[in-house]
This record gives sequence, C-alpha cells and structure tokens, in this order.
Amino acid sequence: MPEYAKNQSAGFTNAIERIAIVGAGGTVGSHIAKALLATGRHTVTALSRQGSGNKLPEGVLVASVDYNDEATIVAALKGQQFLIITMAPTAPRDTHSKLVQAAAKAGIPYVMPNGYAGDIDDIKLGEDTLLGPVAKANRDEIERLGMQWITVCCGFWYDYSLAGGEARFGFDFNKRSLTLYDDGNTKNSTSTLSQVGRAVAKVLSLNELPQDENDKSVTVSTFLNNAVYIKSFVVSQNDMFDSVKRVTGTTDADWTITHEDTKKRYEAGLAQVKVGNMAGFSKLLYARAFYPDAASNLSVKAQNELLGLPEESLDESTKVGIDLVKELQLRVERMAS
Ligand SMILES: NC(=O)c1ccc[n+]([C@@H]2O[C@H](COP(=O)([O-])OP(=O)(O)OC[C@H]3O[C@@H](n4cnc5c(N)ncnc54)[C@H](OP(=O)(O)O)[C@@H]3O)[C@@H](O)[C@H]2O)c1
Repeated sequence: MPEYAKNQSAGFTNAIERIAIVGAGGTVGSHIAKALLATGRHTVTALSRQGSGNKLPEGVLVASVDYNDEATIVAALKGQQFLIITMAPTAPRDTHSKLVQAAAKAGIPYVMPNGYAGDIDDIKLGEDTLLGPVAKANRDEIERLGMQWITVCCGFWYDYSLAGGEARFGFDFNKRSLTLYDDGNTKNSTSTLSQVGRAVAKVLSLNELPQDENDKSVTVSTFLNNAVYIKSFVVSQNDMFDSVKRVTGTTDADWTITHEDTKKRYEAGLAQVKVGNMAGFSKLLYARAFYPDAASNLSVKAQNELLGLPEESLDESTKVGIDLVKELQLRVERMAS
C-alpha cells in the first residue's frame, strides 16, 4: 500500500531532516556531506571511528563510534531518519552489517548502502566484477531487518578514476603513459564525485512521501528499494585522452601509448585476486567494464533530468581529476586494493 503524508501522525514533517553518514571525510562521502549541508535543509551527523585521521567537512556533527561496541553505533544513530554508508572497501567485511543491524535497532527507516557503482540490474557485470553479490547481500540485509534502501548507480567516478593510476582509466600522469583497453573506443557512463554528491542531496531534499493519491510528484519514496541512476559523461578512453591533451597542452608525442586486450587483462586481474593479490581487483574491475560487447553504460536509465542535475564540462572535470592525482598517490594502501 502506498503511504501518503496526509495519513501520518501529527508532527510528521514530510522531509528528511536528520541524516547520518559514514565516511563524511572520505572520497565520495565528503562530496555527499557537503552537498547536503549546502541545501541548508539537513542536519548531517558523521559516524566516525575514534582517532580517525580523516578530516570531516565543516558543519557536520560528529558521533564517535567503535565498530566492536554496537551500543556506540546505536546511540549515534538514534533519532536519525536516514543512514548513508560510504565506507572504505578495505574495511572489514562485517562492518557494513554491523552498521545496518545497529540502524535497525536505532529505528532508522532508510539506508543508502555502500555501492556507488554500475547498474545493479546488470547481473553479469556485477558477478564478473565480484561487486554485485556483495552489494545485493547488503541490500537484502536491510530489507530483512525491516528497513528500505536507496542505492546510487553512477558508474565509475570520472575524476577519481582518471587520477587513480594505470589500473583504472589507464592513465599514469607521472610517466605520461596510457594503457588503452582494446582500441580505446569503448564508452562507459561515468559520474563525477560532485555529481554523486549533488544527486544524493537532491533525492534527500525531496518530500519524503506524496501528500495524497493525487500528488504525482517525485518523492524520496519513489526511490525506495530501488536505484538512483545518474551520469556525467559517456566517454571512451580516447575521449578522455583528447580532453587530457587539451587540458595539459600536450600532444600524442608526449605520451607513451600501449594497448591491452580487455579480456586478457580481466583474466590476469582475476588470477591475481584468486591468490590474494588485491592489486588485481582494479585491473579486473575496469577491464571488465570496458568489454566492447558488454560495457558498463547505464546512461539510458539516467535520471539527471528528473533530479535537475546540471550538465558538466568534460575538460573542467578532467582538470579536477588531474588535481586529484597527488592526493590519491598518498593513499597507497587504499589505491592498491
Ligand atoms: N564508482 C567508483 O568509481 C568507485 C570508486 C571507489 C569506491 N567506490 C565505492 O564507493 C564506496 C565508498 O568508497 P570511498 O572511496 O568513498 O571510501 P573511502 O574514502 O576510502 O573511506 C570512507 C570512510 O570509510 C571509513 N573507514 C576507513 N577504513 C575503515 C575501517 N577499517 N573500518 C571502518 N571504517 C573505515 C572512514 O571513515 P572514518 O575514518 O570517519 O571512520 C573513511 O572516511 C564503496 O562502496 C566503494 O566500493 C566507487
């Protein structure tokens, strides 16, 4: 049965005002937290490990948590309306589950689980990249505990993946080298980190529920137990390279280009992961997403217009990516896995 605002008890505000976020100082979480704060409509509380060295955006409230002490997580989540999880993929596997269980105990109705990847309905892509079954299990657990989820399908983060080394979009800016997958013409749908932040803020700034059966407007409830699909650019590595050359004022002569067969590269990455070498993970993930006959491209489902997301400039975003290179190189352990 659809729920309507008119049937809720007195005091129902029909707005998501209190949001808790894990990873507010992280790669995508910082963009989400800042975008939420910029709306002026939300109180944002960061759940952060005691002693964490991650710098949190100005304006967020901080709740220290200890993942080995559930009471601290439940206490941090009490009274919140929405939990956003942007947790490092290197965190112990059961941490996501600990958060979700604590959220249920705290009475939180909605959770945005870790994900921020390709189309969740592209089952084969999810299985091949090993990410799909983990994300599905996370969503199932949320439902099993009586809560609802909204996940973000955004494809690769354009700026981060451009900056993140050869194993991602193939660029090594220190060496000025580029590995092209096959002929470099396969397109992927990508989103900038700031577009992801904006999209989450747009969704969570909608009314929570339609007023009544005549209210056909988009609300938070439109997305429950579903994905929000967004994009910035649908680009090939050659498109990215053209942009990089424009932004850096370089030409082909300044770059060393090699080609790799995506299918062989995927198998090589998978073989590394199977023997516990997680450096193979990015390799398999990106190679798989650039398979010419089954690329990661969710652009036909993108809800940019529905959410009123802006058009972005590819070259501006390339600049943002290049500015990220040094920062990501300092995160050696994280980027290696
Ligand atoms: N689409 C893409 O291109 C792409 C790229 C990378 C990642 N992702 C996905 O995006 C999500 C978030 O990734 P991210 O790169 O934003 O994360 P991140 O910046 O690496 O980490 C986010 C937060 O996780 C917490 N954390 C770190 N280590 C932890 C540990 N051992 N135990 C518990 N918490 C820990 C930290 O929060 P505190 O220090 O405050 O506790 C940190 O700020 C993941 O689902 C990932 O798979 C997508």
